[in-house]
Amino acid sequence: MTVKKFTTASFLEAKKKGEKISMLTAYDYSTAKLLDDAGIDSLLVGDSLGMVMLGYANTLQVTVDDIIHHCKAVARGAQRAMVIGDMPFLSYHISVEESVRNAGRLIQEGNAHAVKLEGGEEIIDKVKAIVRAQIPVIAHLGLTPQSVNLLGGFKVQGKSEEQARKIIRDALLLQEAGAFAIVLECVPELLAKMITEKLDIPTIGIGAGKYCDGQVLVTQDMFGMFSDFKPKFVKQYAQLGGIIQEACRQYIEEMKAMTFPAKEHTFAMDEEILAKL
Ligand code: KIV
Repeated sequence: MTVKKFTTASFLEAKKKGEKISMLTAYDYSTAKLLDDAGIDSLLVGDSLGMVMLGYANTLQVTVDDIIHHCKAVARGAQRAMVIGDMPFLSYHISVEESVRNAGRLIQEGNAHAVKLEGGEEIIDKVKAIVRAQIPVIAHLGLTPQSVNLLGGFKVQGKSEEQARKIIRDALLLQEAGAFAIVLECVPELLAKMITEKLDIPTIGIGAGKYCDGQVLVTQDMFGMFSDFKPKFVKQYAQLGGIIQEACRQYIEEMKAMTFPAKEHTFAMDEEILAKL
């Protein structure tokens, strides 16, 4: 059966029709497959993988090769969902040429359908060049975790008039530069609403309230599998961390008591052959 894929055109169509766009992060084949089967519209191979998969304190150590490695796995698990590869720190900061090359690697080697970049006015030349290379771009404004050192921590953005005006201006510039959607992270709900209403392209919110055209969450956060910290905007839809730990405790207990493996998990052997050994 051929599956109708969720594409950049679907993003714009959804905005026009007022239908919300669902996005979650994914970093591996089996999770991507589960989320795709459940009907998710898009899967973001976010550089958040540095924190939730690799155990770094922030996203700054993630490389293009890391994203490609995880993107390949996610792309194999996604039948319908659009796969978005996150461009990591320094992969689009040095030159336009390097930015296009790195974006191209996420498409060509990682099998992503689009790439995501953090920033506004300062990256407009890179966004335009990547789009000119026929690679769809999703932008990311507000709290941009790759700027954590400059921002002085993971803080809500856009509360002051100056910050809010900059985010609005950046959003319009990114739309003009050819971005097909914009992630708004950790901005006040009514600022996100205003931006959403000003744009023809969809906004995807994370900690940006309900008026965005879509929502994204880090999968490990929403499944209760990441316990280092829990941002205010996360809703845990399941507590899989506890379920996994309980299953692990039971496994340890049973294998020590030799009740696992049981007969049904074991392979038999012909007794005559056994006797000859
Ligand atoms: O890296 C990531 O997972 C992200 C989302 C939080 C939007 O950028």
